[in-house]
Amino acid sequence: MNVRTQEGSAGDVGRTAIGSGRAPFRRPDTRIARFIAEALGEARTVLNVGAGTGSYESAAREVTAVEPSRSMREQRPPRLGRAVDAVAEDLPFADGAFDGSMTLLSLHRWSDVTRGLREMRRVTRGPVVVLTHAPEVVRDFWLYAYAPEVLDTEARRHPRIEDIAAALGGSGTVLTVPIPLDCTDGFNEAYYGRPEMLLDPAARQGCSAWSFVDDGVRERFDEKLRRDLDSGAWDAHHGHLRAQSAYEGSLVLVRATPDPA
Ligand SMILES: C[S@@+](CC[C@H](N)C(=O)[O-])C[C@H]1O[C@@H](n2cnc3c(N)ncnc32)[C@H](O)[C@@H]1O
Repeated sequence: MNVRTQEGSAGDVGRTAIGSGRAPFRRPDTRIARFIAEALGEARTVLNVGAGTGSYESAAREVTAVEPSRSMREQRPPRLGRAVDAVAEDLPFADGAFDGSMTLLSLHRWSDVTRGLREMRRVTRGPVVVLTHAPEVVRDFWLYAYAPEVLDTEARRHPRIEDIAAALGGSGTVLTVPIPLDCTDGFNEAYYGRPEMLLDPAARQGCSAWSFVDDGVRERFDEKLRRDLDSGAWDAHHGHLRAQSAYEGSLVLVRATPDPA
């Protein structure tokens, strides 16, 4: 059976606008890249599932990318290999084909997360590495006071960490990834100490949860945050974040290795 995303036959519908508009605000962050590299360890051949345009793919490894959206595949820079048109839930590779595999900020878009993760486990001899947002803590971010609908959407879309670990089996670790103050990968929490950035509609568009809420939510958010920034109310509560070098929020890295046979 061939499982496809809810967005369309190859996950294309609704992605073109996000794909093209988000690019300047969603650049891989070198500090986050180091956590991913460490989790992959010595893996030489690496599968990247839901690869998008290839963020965090390292030239030091032999990467095979899987990406169901044609528009995303077409936006991959030529220096990266072409991505295979497939979905996580049905990977066209033999058992144990790769030393390691990763899926980065993609799980929340899959139609069957358990099945996709089991597929990743099947085709991987070593670590499976998942970068995702923990839904349990998504609402702890200050943005919840300004746009609860956006973070409710995030919390609903992301699978629970214990479900991810259970689907992967074996031995696992879960690490909270510190988000740097000048993080270049613009998901919502990347702006924890730069609230003005979230007033830029183009920066918000880089985070797909904003596209699930209506104009009224965005207008109310804009008005309330502007008012609190002008009055000093935001700084009175959260101003210390402007100088905090990193933020530990919902960004987590799950790493699972198989139990010895
Ligand atoms: C938010 S993007 C992340 C892309 C990239 N990993 C990154 O970190 O920039 C999520 C990607 O997952 C892909 N995707 C959606 N459903 C998928 C599925 N069932 N299997 C594999 N990839 C999927 C989307 O097409 C999209 O390119």
